[in-house]
Amino acid sequence: MSQARRAYNVAVLGATGAVGEELLKLLEEREFPVGELRLLASPRSAGKTLRMGGRSYTVEAVSPDSFRGIDIAFFSAAGSVSEAYAPAAVAAGAVVIDNTSAFRLREDVPLVVPEVNPHDIAWHRGIIANPNCSTIIMCVALWPLHRAARIRRVIVSTYQAVSGAGARAMAELDAQVRAYAEGREAPAEVLPYASAPKHYPIAFNVIPHIDVFQELGYTKEEWKMVRESRKILHEPELAVAATTVRVPVFRSHAESVNIETERKLTVDEARAILRSAPGVIVQDEPESMTYPMPILVTGRDEVFVGRIREDISHPQGLNLWLVGDQIRKGAALNAIQIAEIVVAEGLWHRR
Ligand code: A2P
Repeated sequence: MSQARRAYNVAVLGATGAVGEELLKLLEEREFPVGELRLLASPRSAGKTLRMGGRSYTVEAVSPDSFRGIDIAFFSAAGSVSEAYAPAAVAAGAVVIDNTSAFRLREDVPLVVPEVNPHDIAWHRGIIANPNCSTIIMCVALWPLHRAARIRRVIVSTYQAVSGAGARAMAELDAQVRAYAEGREAPAEVLPYASAPKHYPIAFNVIPHIDVFQELGYTKEEWKMVRESRKILHEPELAVAATTVRVPVFRSHAESVNIETERKLTVDEARAILRSAPGVIVQDEPESMTYPMPILVTGRDEVFVGRIREDISHPQGLNLWLVGDQIRKGAALNAIQIAEIVVAEGLWHRR
């Protein structure tokens, strides 16, 4: 298959989840040429109906046979689910755009942010990985600065919304806030992550722990930001250190980023570069209290950048404040942008 066709058969695995829901919205909003649409989830959701484009679809329990005739399969359930079903989907001839971390660091799998490294899509062998949400948001803003002045070091702290932990985490924040207002206790069962040995409330709290702890005291989420940004930016030695934090915000992640560049970037130059960068909106007017915030960025496609300041502690340092809608640009939108490139350029793998 190399010629652009009129419509493509699409599967969404994880259709009942927070990202799945946004994928369906965006397929419609962006008028993706969907032929057949197959909505897949766990057996718990089989038989539920979901709407897309004015039509109802019945959710099916995923099985290895679910991908027959499918051209593009968006995977957004869990890493283990992707590992279990991606081989079957690829064997059936589908291009898998995987939103989990299962394949992101594999050498034969491109890891793509369309504003940064769209050319990597061309060498896929059936699976294209969608990066971690905080990493996508950071790379969209850092890439134009890197091209202009070569970034040597990145120090980032995130303020991540509960949407990143899925629909259950959003429901838990909602329940805890309601319970607090009514003077009741609400249990903590989901954060920092569902299978953790204990849980902490997220309402009126900040949790410096996203996903499991790994080497050197960094969490898996923090290592994702390090390793994935190196792969996306094609800078295997880039110095990156991250602290990832969950905050009681429903949706849209914020990041405080400090960069050190080889060539000094002035604030004015950085602003000008970011203003003309694809997928970026500069919102940076301290005098009128204009800066990006999750409540303003939710539902938007772009990464918003503000609070651009020279790092007064380092001659080549710059501080930035980024906000991006994690479910949209951090997940579903990025995946659909990848699919749009596959379709437009006929980048199918050989069956
Ligand atoms: P289900 O609703 O049937 O549990 P979120 O990240 O918002 O929590 O969503 C996770 C998505 O992944 C849901 O659609 C969920 O389906 C799906 N999912 C979770 N576990 C599995 C599984 N073992 N097989 C298929 N889909 C799964």
